[in-house]
Amino acid sequence: MNIILLGPPGAGKGTQASRLEAERGMVQLSTGDMLRAARKADTPLGHQVAAVMDSGALVSDEIVSALIDEKLGTLSAEQGTIFDGYPRTAAQAESLDVILARHGRKLDVVVELEVNEDALVERIVGRYTCAKCGAGYHDHFKQPLVAGVCDVCGSTEFKRRPDDNEETVRTRMAEYRAKTLPILPLYEARGIVAKVDGMADIDEVSAQIASVLDR
Ligand code: AP5
Ligand code: MG
Repeated sequence: MNIILLGPPGAGKGTQASRLEAERGMVQLSTGDMLRAARKADTPLGHQVAAVMDSGALVSDEIVSALIDEKLGTLSAEQGTIFDGYPRTAAQAESLDVILARHGRKLDVVVELEVNEDALVERIVGRYTCAKCGAGYHDHFKQPLVAGVCDVCGSTEFKRRPDDNEETVRTRMAEYRAKTLPILPLYEARGIVAKVDGMADIDEVSAQIASVLDR
């Protein structure tokens, strides 16, 4: 299966994609994570995109589509994929069709995480991850079982994203509304969009996604 998780910043795309990876052996393809990895590794690409990401604006379509194409080339045919944060523009949606066809794949479902924008700032500003394994946490909604210790790998170091501040989140939401939401009708016309209540608690969202994928 090849699915898209579509939703604004903080909708829970990354949270749900990690669960699908763990539970179904699918592969999460997050362009945001790929770009952050390029920055961490101090690559020319990382330098090129840093300022754009920190402002909350979108990186160029060519860059992100090339990242997705390259990553798909490393997967075997039986590995399912979860597109997280891609496509984000009409041009990226068009590229995705071409790229999927080139890799002998087709898009099965677009899961739209429906959320109330007012809740998203709180979700994003409270978010942090394990600095070692990347497991995701939240100041209020998902604390480690033992305070200050990662549930997954036991590390005691955590980090926050530089773009997770209120001002940048507003820009990211405006970008979502202006450039990403308009691609939804394209997928609706194909009859492959399933809406899920992204305001429900994390387990409930996972259950709703599971029922979409299993139907
Ligand atoms: P990206 O990394 O994709 O960020 P984003 O779209 O802004 O989304 P987030 O990662 O912030 O949110 P999420 O939906 O993954 O939420 P999460 O699960 O973490 O992109 C970053 C930047 O990279 C962009 O601004 C752009 O510059 C660039 N970029 C990336 N892709 C691009 C592309 N295709 N084209 C151009 N530029 C691109 O959840 C958030 C928090 O809420 C967590 O703490 C979580 O624990 C909590 N939470 C999750 N679900 C729930 C729930 N149901 N209830 C309560 N809390 C919840
Ligand atoms: Mg994410």
